Amino acid sequence: MIVLGIETSCDETAAALVCDNTAGDGTILSNVVLSQLDDHRPFGGVVPEIAARAHLDHLDSIIARALDDAGLGLDAVDGIAATAGPGLIGGVHVGSMTAKAIASARGLPFIAVNHLEAHALTARLTNGVAFPYLLLLVSGGHCQLLAVTGLGQYDLLGTTIDDAIGEAFDKTAKLLGLGFPGGPAVQEAAARGNARRFNLPRPLKGRPGCDFSFSGLKTAVRQTALKLEDTPDDQDIADLAASFQAAVCDTVADRCRHAIEMFAESHGHKPPALVAAGGVAANLALRETLDTACRAQGIELVVPPPALCTDNAAMVAWAGLERLRAGFTSPLDFRPRPRWPLAELRASE
Ligand code: KG4
Ligand code: ZN
Repeated sequence: MIVLGIETSCDETAAALVCDNTAGDGTILSNVVLSQLDDHRPFGGVVPEIAARAHLDHLDSIIARALDDAGLGLDAVDGIAATAGPGLIGGVHVGSMTAKAIASARGLPFIAVNHLEAHALTARLTNGVAFPYLLLLVSGGHCQLLAVTGLGQYDLLGTTIDDAIGEAFDKTAKLLGLGFPGGPAVQEAAARGNARRFNLPRPLKGRPGCDFSFSGLKTAVRQTALKLEDTPDDQDIADLAASFQAAVCDTVADRCRHAIEMFAESHGHKPPALVAAGGVAANLALRETLDTACRAQGIELVVPPPALCTDNAAMVAWAGLERLRAGFTSPLDFRPRPRWPLAELRASE
């Protein structure tokens, strides 16, 4: 089965073709991502209207390139999948309408994909991970731990009570004058810094459950920067970035340990694997931390390569393929949803 996927929910215009393998995983036949970073950089963040217009300008040629790279025509494709939410609604409309138009013109099934489900299933595309697993979803707008028991079956174990984890990285980067996008900039500065110089809080660490909180940590970074006697120099900034990143990693490891216990209590066994997904899972320090935590717990850690953690269309094509294979398609009047929590998703939706 071959599916064309389209991703336009934020500031990447992307199209990809994937097929499934008998081994249970998938093969990426092509994966084209056009980042709009340069369009948004002057504003220090993503401007929804600029994003939607840029998707409109580029999507057709990105799709043509994805087909070209795979050496295939639309006649080889079994279904058209597009992110239909959650995300910036202007961009989501551009992607969904394009997918619906192609599906309707070619008589192909359309699959409305939940962007978070696409992140959640990426480890099945790359590593053929079997259900059930524990999912750590860490992106620009989310920070959640979920038990994934099947396609469309997500039980929320914990979530952030204030900022998303990617937001914490982005705001910290802004505060430290590290620019946009924040996550990779903090990671780069942290690599030159001393993570033990500043003792920042580990919010909710040791508390029952596996919720997250990041707003206190962000405030602590600001206060620490203000307390420095002189204007912070490069080394101060690197040390603060490293201390922030270490606090985040420490907190996430603690929350994952609790989530593993919660999973074991309700399923009668530990999760066979912890899967990390979403843009922040590209963070190298976080990947190392999770590796150590999973070794200690004797469970497998699966984190897709960084380019498949940040937004891309291969994950959308794969989620569409899994749904199509299970017999679930979407009507052409499917309404895109700016808000669409994973825990509300059903297999047939
Ligand atoms: O999943 P994603 O690409 O888009 C959303 O669906 O939100 O995640 C974007 C988030 C941004 O906050 C970005 O700063 C963060 O992922 N990010 C990182 C890294 N690469 C991207 N955060 C920390 N370290 C990174 N290397
Ligand atoms: Zn995403």
